[in-house]
Amino acid sequence: MSLLIKNGRIITAVDDYKADIFIEKETVTQIGIGLSVQADTVIDAGGKLVIPGGIDPHTHLDMPFGGTTSADDFETGTRAAAHGGTTCVIDFAIQNKGQSTLAALETWHNKASGKTAIDYAFHMIVTDMEDSRLWEMRKLADEGITSYKLFMAYPGVFYVDDGTLFRAMRKAGEDGTLVCMHAENGIVIDEIVKRAVQEGKTEPKWHSLTRPTRMEAEGVHRAIAIAEVARVPVYIVHLSSYDALEQVNIARSRGVYAYAETCPQYLFLDYSYYEKPNFEGAKYVMTPALREKWNQDELWRGLKFGDLSSIATDHCPFCFKDQKELGRDSFTKIPNGAPGVENRMSLVYNGGVVQKRISLNKFVELTSTNAARLFGLFPRKGTIAVGSDADIVIFNPDRKETISINNKITHNMNVDYSTYEGTEVQGISETVISRGKVVIKDCQYVGRKGDGQFVKRGLFTGLH
Ligand code: URP
Ligand code: ZN
Ligand code: ZN
Repeated sequence: MSLLIKNGRIITAVDDYKADIFIEKETVTQIGIGLSVQADTVIDAGGKLVIPGGIDPHTHLDMPFGGTTSADDFETGTRAAAHGGTTCVIDFAIQNKGQSTLAALETWHNKASGKTAIDYAFHMIVTDMEDSRLWEMRKLADEGITSYKLFMAYPGVFYVDDGTLFRAMRKAGEDGTLVCMHAENGIVIDEIVKRAVQEGKTEPKWHSLTRPTRMEAEGVHRAIAIAEVARVPVYIVHLSSYDALEQVNIARSRGVYAYAETCPQYLFLDYSYYEKPNFEGAKYVMTPALREKWNQDELWRGLKFGDLSSIATDHCPFCFKDQKELGRDSFTKIPNGAPGVENRMSLVYNGGVVQKRISLNKFVELTSTNAARLFGLFPRKGTIAVGSDADIVIFNPDRKETISINNKITHNMNVDYSTYEGTEVQGISETVISRGKVVIKDCQYVGRKGDGQFVKRGLFTGLH
């Protein structure tokens, strides 16, 4: 099978030029002006942008959490991701307390294998790490799991103490891997939550009001300090506030290997969404919580100047009916998480490039290239180059669509609401090629369950 993409404007993190791309089987084999090659399929990308497939380094598919399971599994979630121009997700396998991380990995392989529309990889959520188990971390790296997520939040669920953090971090550093951190002081937050509930403050908005940004900043500061001593690079996931960003900024200006991602929800949504009537605020219950709107400009500044390296979704959907409903009588029982894997590229293009906050190259860097570099996928993924996987999006920069659960161009996630309902975006992923195969053609899914493969990731090499 060969494929020729003609006349497109190729944008990578550093390039911007018009050329043709020739793909043989799964790989880009030629790029040039006016290529004269015979191809089985020819796509005319005139007037369109040709960009590397998006990489979403933070999704939770088929994830048991909050007494239920996230509504998208590896089939529906990756199909929706493909619709939105994402060709690789890095999901989170979860070690149950006391369980071997290798057994946990097997469980997640079983959930995903043969089901996905696009390629996928795993981080490992570590919930305990005794000395006797440390050897598993090297084995995981050999299996292509080269990053771990540790939690300072959710005591009694995923939370680990600082000793465990340090132990796991030191080993991760020795092995050349990366630690991802959910950085919020969950112990203090739980005390604030307890008092709020005692006082009868149970509506969804109290989810946010019990989680001060200072406790996120404290977590970020502590995570980076411990990582520095453990000599491991650290990546703060779903950073939501200026207070937290400031800590990343201070550390980086001291030369510490600290990186961070933010998510569209923190760039486009804010605290006021919790005040929606009829329990609708529950749709936005996620952790960290949505912040005061003024934080958004600071996050954009962090993206523009590099203290925030990537934009992930933290896609963790729960249906409003039946799942979010579990917390009708108290916000503490609302499953934490929200959908978004499908809308990331359009939202960031619209809010970033169209609204002149970031350049086209930066758009690619934040939605694909930096995630590939940080998580051991580059240059196989995250760019358009000879020898790279043919993960390519033909992106219409002018087309406008309104995000809605009723619009099949924008909503294929298996969840009964959209956090961006009614938002018009300019910039749509029209054709999506995953390892050389067209899986989305003119916004229609034409792929098959199982097209995607597990990708073994390499060790941490930084953003150089
Ligand atoms: O609310 C969220 N973010 N749910 C997913 C779990 C996590 O902390 O990433
Ligand atoms: Zn988290
Ligand atoms: Zn998450």
